[in-house]
Amino acid sequence: MTDFTAVILAAGEGTRMKSNTPKVLHKVCGVPMLSYVIDAARDAGAQKIVVVIGSGADEVTNTFKDKHIEFVVQAEQKGTGHALMQARNAVKNDPLIVVLCGDMPLITKQSISGMVETHKKNEAFATVMTSKVSDPKGYGRIIRDGNRIVAIREHRDASLREKAICEINSGLYCFDTEAVFSALTKVEDKNDQGEYYLTDVIEILNRDKKTVISYETADPNELIGVNDRCQLANAQSAMQKRIINGLMQQGVTFINPDSSIVEQNVKIGRDTVIYPSVFLEGNTCIGDGCVIIGSTRIKDSQIGNHVEITMSQIQESIIEDNVKIGPFANLRPGCRVCTGAKIGDFIEIKNSSVGEGAKVPHLSYVGDADIGRNSNIGAGVIFVNYDGYKKHRTIVEDGAFIGCNSNIVAPVTIRSGAYVAAGSTVTQEVPKDSLAIARARQENKLDWVKKREEKLEGGNRQNEQA
Ligand code: UD1
Ligand code: CA
Repeated sequence: MTDFTAVILAAGEGTRMKSNTPKVLHKVCGVPMLSYVIDAARDAGAQKIVVVIGSGADEVTNTFKDKHIEFVVQAEQKGTGHALMQARNAVKNDPLIVVLCGDMPLITKQSISGMVETHKKNEAFATVMTSKVSDPKGYGRIIRDGNRIVAIREHRDASLREKAICEINSGLYCFDTEAVFSALTKVEDKNDQGEYYLTDVIEILNRDKKTVISYETADPNELIGVNDRCQLANAQSAMQKRIINGLMQQGVTFINPDSSIVEQNVKIGRDTVIYPSVFLEGNTCIGDGCVIIGSTRIKDSQIGNHVEITMSQIQESIIEDNVKIGPFANLRPGCRVCTGAKIGDFIEIKNSSVGEGAKVPHLSYVGDADIGRNSNIGAGVIFVNYDGYKKHRTIVEDGAFIGCNSNIVAPVTIRSGAYVAAGSTVTQEVPKDSLAIARARQENKLDWVKKREEKLEGGNRQNEQA
C-alpha cells in the first residue's frame, strides 16, 4: 500500500439528474455513489480524504459525518480546476494527491493503487487514468506526440481530427501536489464553457518539462460516470453484476442473476440458492444452505442457516436456523422466529417472537406477542393488540394450542400447555394445562325447520282466503 491523499470532486450541480437530491447521494445498489468512491480510495491506501462539495453541501456532509472525511466547499462551480483549487489548503503538506470524481462509483481500489504505483515508479509529476473506448463522445481526448501525452482536449473544444481519438481521459489523476497547484495558477477559462479546466494542467506541466504519463484501466466499466438517470441505471446494472458475481464466487447460487436485486451490504452464505425476483436490501445477512424463492423482499434482517422463504417480505427481523416462511408472509420490524419454527401462508407478524418449533401456519395476525416453544396457533387466529388507544402484549407459553379463528385480546397470558377452543374470544388468563372456551354454548332447536315451514304454509293459506 502506498500513502497518498485523495481529493474527491463532488461539487458539480448534477443538473442533468433533474433531482432535489445532490447527485453524489443518489444510490447505486442501495448505497450513495460517493460512498463507493470514498471506500475505494481508503482501501487503496488513502491516508486522508478530502471531498470538494457544493450544491447540497449540508446533506452530503451529514450523510458522511462518521466517515472521517475533510470537506471543503466550492461555493460557485467554475470547473474541475477551480474545484481542486479549493482543496489547496487542506492538502498543501501532503506530497502526493489522487483526484477522483464523486460520480464514478465503479472505480476500484486496484485501479487507484495501480495508478499510484505507476506514478511513483516513473517519478512522474502527473499520471492520467485513461481508457480506450469505442464511443468517446463527451469525454476529454488524450492528445499524444508519439508516446508522450501533451494535452487533454475536451470534446466540445476538440477539432474533428481530435474528436476521432478513442483514448479518453477518465477524469482521475495522480499528481505531485506542488506541481499541480503551481500549474493550476496558470489555468485560464478561455474555453467553450468559460470554466477552469483541471485537464489544462497537463499541457502546462508538459511545457514546463515535467513528466506526464498515463495509466490505462483494465475494465472501462470502472469509468462509468453518472450524469443523468440513464447513466445511473447503467452504473446500477454494472454494480449489480459485480456484487452478484462476487457472491457466486463465494458459493451462492443465483438461478437467474440478472433478475435479482442484491444491495452492496448484503452477505450470503455458501450453498444458499437465490431464485429470480428476490430483493435483498440494507444490512441483510443470510446464512448457509438457505433457499429464497421470489418475489421475496428481505430488508435489514438476519437469516440463519437452512431457512426456506417463499414469496414473502421480511423487515428488521431475526430468523433462526431451519425456519420455513411463506408463501405470502409479511414479517414487519421487530420479529424473532426461533429455530425450527414455521410461519405459513397469509400471516402478518409484528414486533413478536415465535418460539422454537412453534407453528403459525395459516391466515393469522400476530402483533406484540411472545409465543412459546412448540405452541400451535390455529388458522385465522388474531392477536388483538390494539384497543384504539394503546398497544398491549400477549404471552402464549410453551406448548399451548390456540384453536382456529380465535381472538386473543391483549394484555393476556395463555399458560403453558393450555388449549383455547376454536372460535373463542379470550380476554382472561388461561391457566396451565386447562381448556378455555370463550364463546356462547351451542343450542340445538330440534325440528325447527319443519315447524317453521308449517307456520309459514299456514300463513299463506290464510292469505289466499283473504
Ligand atoms: C471531466 C473531464 C473530462 C473527462 C470526464 C470523465 C474536465 C474539464 N473534463 O469532464 O476530460 O473525460 O470528466 O468523466 O475536467 N466538479 C466540481 N466542481 C466544478 C465542476 C465539476 O466539483 O465546478 C466535479 C463534478 O461534481 C464531477 C467532476 O468534477 O464529480 C467532473 O465534472 P463534470 O462536469 O462531470 O466533468 P465532465 O464534463 O464529465
Ligand atoms: Ca462527469
